[in-house]
Amino acid sequence: MITVLDKPVYRCASLRIRYSTSLLISTALLLLTACRSERTHDATNHSNAAKIDRLAKDGDVQVIALGSCNRASESQDYWSTIAQQDPDLWIWLGDIIYGDSENPEVLKRKYDRQLSSSQYQDFIADVPIIGIWDDHDYGVNNGGKEFKIKVESRDLLFDFLDVADRHRAEEGAYQSYTFGRKPSLKVILLDARYFRDVVRYRDRKTVPSKRGTILGKEQWSWLDKELSKSNADIHLIASGIQFLPEEHPYEKWANFPKEREKLLDMIAKHDVSHPILLSGDRHLAEISRVLHRGKTIVELTSSGLTHSYTSYKHEPNAHRMGPVMSDKNFGVIRTDPQDGIISLEIWGIDGELYHKIQMPLE
Ligand SMILES: [Fe+2]
Repeated sequence: MITVLDKPVYRCASLRIRYSTSLLISTALLLLTACRSERTHDATNHSNAAKIDRLAKDGDVQVIALGSCNRASESQDYWSTIAQQDPDLWIWLGDIIYGDSENPEVLKRKYDRQLSSSQYQDFIADVPIIGIWDDHDYGVNNGGKEFKIKVESRDLLFDFLDVADRHRAEEGAYQSYTFGRKPSLKVILLDARYFRDVVRYRDRKTVPSKRGTILGKEQWSWLDKELSKSNADIHLIASGIQFLPEEHPYEKWANFPKEREKLLDMIAKHDVSHPILLSGDRHLAEISRVLHRGKTIVELTSSGLTHSYTSYKHEPNAHRMGPVMSDKNFGVIRTDPQDGIISLEIWGIDGELYHKIQMPLE
């Protein structure tokens, strides 16, 4: 049974405990600057890739924060609001920067600008990050496999995220991670750009493709293996574009109906435990749900960290649960193994809880 809470139920006012931890670590690091070799070793241990590996080995991941659509040139003050959730992990859901260029130097400059934000640096000093791209950080609005500098762009994304070398062996940006024991969590980040066939438009609306692919052959067979061998308690499956909504005229998995069906079939076929889809791109936040071949599959869309769909009035989505958030927002997934609950939450960047659903964690 799914409990839906349509209204804000509380305002988060928790202190950011990790800030003080970070301050202590920073001070300790300063005291070590006399020894160059030790400092280099220490920096390696504190790289994001090392933090992710440590988390996969030792840590439980019970609070996951996520978001998308970030202009590096806009205020980055919202990171301290997200940090109040004390997340164990941050997931970028695309449009990390608005690169929009065929020049790798432009993309790099914009990633560097994001990295130069002291608010972002404070956040990632404490919170390990992973992520996948959408179109604007890929380099071209609504782009797909035809994009000229996709190889260079992938490397720039992985450099920005500080992704471990083992993920660089394949083409494209898809990755998977397994974390935690109570409950165990598998995160699958799907690349919906690098291999995606061309999307056609008519009257500025997308035209469904009968034969085209989003993931491409190799990513599909990788995904099938990832899902078939997984015995994680919870599965987060992310892509920049929305999976479940079918009606709106923008980019979505439903523009490739067979690909959407194939994904849902694959989740049902492998009886994937607690499948939760994650997406961004839309400059709004909403929660959707389908029952597919007996399997309940939910989707949390969170989009608009620095700008949102302020002119939003209405958009049909037969799968939507509860309201649409058209102000700037981020998402949180929270597991409570003691109470046996998974929560999907939409937060405003003012720190107000806007919408939440809860599901039993069996
Ligand atoms: Fe996008």
